[in-house]
Amino acid sequence: MRLDRFVSETTGMSRKEATKVLQSAEVTIDGVVQKKAALQVPDGAKVMWNNEPLELIGPTYLMMHKPLDCVCANHDSRHRTIFTYVDVPNINKLHTVGRLDLDTTGLLLITDDGQWSHRITSPKQQCLKIYHAWVSEPLIEENISAFAAGLELTGEDKPTAPALLEILNEREALVHVHEGRYHQVRRMFAAIGNNVEKLHREQVGSLTLDADLAPGECRVLTAEEVALF
Ligand code: URA
Repeated sequence: MRLDRFVSETTGMSRKEATKVLQSAEVTIDGVVQKKAALQVPDGAKVMWNNEPLELIGPTYLMMHKPLDCVCANHDSRHRTIFTYVDVPNINKLHTVGRLDLDTTGLLLITDDGQWSHRITSPKQQCLKIYHAWVSEPLIEENISAFAAGLELTGEDKPTAPALLEILNEREALVHVHEGRYHQVRRMFAAIGNNVEKLHREQVGSLTLDADLAPGECRVLTAEEVALF
């Protein structure tokens, strides 16, 4: 990796700032000052900036309990973003794996590994997502077959793929979907004349939200959890 990129990736500074730091003779490789941005950093070399070691960190995989009223975006002028709850050095490189609505809570995955997130969000993979929905109108047995048969969503040509509706009580259900269309769960309930009042994602693939995480908290995934996808 080029030295300017190495400095930028390990400190979070821009490439331009990294170049300035190099020009000020603040960076050494194996004890020797290096100023050339294009220099390749040898494997295993000890890179220091003002006598502090710079170390590349591996890919980041986080699970968050997304709270209400925050958006899954890197910047937003109107709402708090989910990244204001994240405290890691490489925060500018992270993205959310798919999105939850402003008023949806629950399991949200965050990473800087584009291939990993693609494996979860690609329509081809048909990754399972389980949502807990609280609705305004009573749920009835026929809703189960309507979800299983596929629903016509407003403005879309293709009906939804078969989904499992597990009725928990008159106004609560679990919805198992294998797609990720825009506002999918809310629009599915709208298609049967119901209205989602509260929505919470419990599971993605076979990964469930850690019950120890309060809304707004996140934790690093274990290697086993990362390998689920
Ligand atoms: N479906 C929705 O309608 N909203 C979400 O946030 C996720 C799935």
